[in-house]
Amino acid sequence: GIDITSLEKDTGLLAFDPGYGNTGSCQSAITFVDGEKGILRHRGIPIEQLAENSSFIEAAMLLIFGKLPTAEDRTAFRHLLSEHELLHEGLLHHFDGFPPGGQPMAILSAVINSLGNYHPELLEIQNAVEFRLAVAKLISKVRTIAAFSYRKSLGLPFMYPDPNLSYCRNFLHMMFSVPNRDYEPTDQAVAALSLFLVVHADHEQNCSCSTVRMVGSTRANLFASVSSGICALWGRLHGGANAAVIQMLTQMLEGRYKVKTFLEMVKRKETRLMGFGHRVYKNFDPRARVLKKAADNLLLQSGLSDPLMEIAQELEETALHDDYFQSRSLYPNVDFYSGIILRALGIPVNMFPVMFAIGRMPGWIAHWQEENLDITTRIHRPRQIYTGPPYRPYVPLDKR
Ligand code: ACO
Repeated sequence: GIDITSLEKDTGLLAFDPGYGNTGSCQSAITFVDGEKGILRHRGIPIEQLAENSSFIEAAMLLIFGKLPTAEDRTAFRHLLSEHELLHEGLLHHFDGFPPGGQPMAILSAVINSLGNYHPELLEIQNAVEFRLAVAKLISKVRTIAAFSYRKSLGLPFMYPDPNLSYCRNFLHMMFSVPNRDYEPTDQAVAALSLFLVVHADHEQNCSCSTVRMVGSTRANLFASVSSGICALWGRLHGGANAAVIQMLTQMLEGRYKVKTFLEMVKRKETRLMGFGHRVYKNFDPRARVLKKAADNLLLQSGLSDPLMEIAQELEETALHDDYFQSRSLYPNVDFYSGIILRALGIPVNMFPVMFAIGRMPGWIAHWQEENLDITTRIHRPRQIYTGPPYRPYVPLDKR
């Protein structure tokens, strides 16, 4: 509906690509996605193989340092993570500034950004040793901050990390242990959490990653850049979708909508089917397949049943046979089944995007480094097609 002739003339040729669907913003050697074939590989390794075999820390090292670590390197890095799992006393006071019931995503992004204040020597990373230290601090502390933000939101005292526990077990300990009674998750629960984090670790130029790269392209420090990624992730079209899926399924469980009625509303464009659709995947999202299987296994192994799982499966089946969804290549994405796993682990819905952020931290770091390692990269600065009024003179206040 824009009258092109009335637009101010710009010099040069501009590609108009709303939402950047056809714009390659950078070159990257980190993650490969083939949306037609449903392929996702990190540094060349398929996500299915990583999900099956790798721990979250190993996958993080692969993404950030470019190759799978040796046993020795992995152990050394785990020690570094344990060394940096605590928060500076001053940083702990930040939590008191948030109201009871404060949003864990807001707390997470604010506290991660503030980390830079407590590690000024890492604001200008000069070499590989400093980078490794900053990586260890972020990967380790994001988990502590996430768990503390949950405790804060419930008005509970913090549960400090235990350096003897693995990354995922330690997180569950900080979330759910109470004084004099350590929370002891099953091995299956710990493995499911690790798999959840592996599957979320990176996904090339998605909105939050692009945000981190964009902020990083100004040469903003690593802490500020990844904190902006957390904000970008928050929205329900991105990392907030996992919580939105559970809210949608719960409404159906409570009888507010039947599956078919809800899908009719979606087709009338009154609402969206959350956890469905993807900018790049047009046949299936390999992460959704891995997570669906993992959710099934976890429920089976734990002897749990989740009524939301049945509704999710009914929704998927019905949508996949419907012309509206078929013709638009809409399939379950990573967020459709991930919430079932998180629920089975006892994680509350307001923490779901936070869980995504813990998982995505290695990807953000890897992309920030790629952007900043090459000093010839240009500041990200898209152009626009101006659609506002043509020239008009300023009118003094008494003449308006
Ligand atoms: N439900 C219903 N219709 C949809 C959905 C959906 N979930 N997703 C896309 N469509 C429709 C659109 O209405 C549009 O239809 P039209 O051609 O009749 O206008 C068509 O499919 C294309 O949709 P776009 O919005 O152009 O697709 P885009 O690539 O911009 O959006 C997105 C991708 C944001 C993921 C979208 O599919 C969506 O909103 N999904 C639901 C939210 C969600 O699950 N987000 C998580 C994505 S994965 C992640 O970020 C980790």
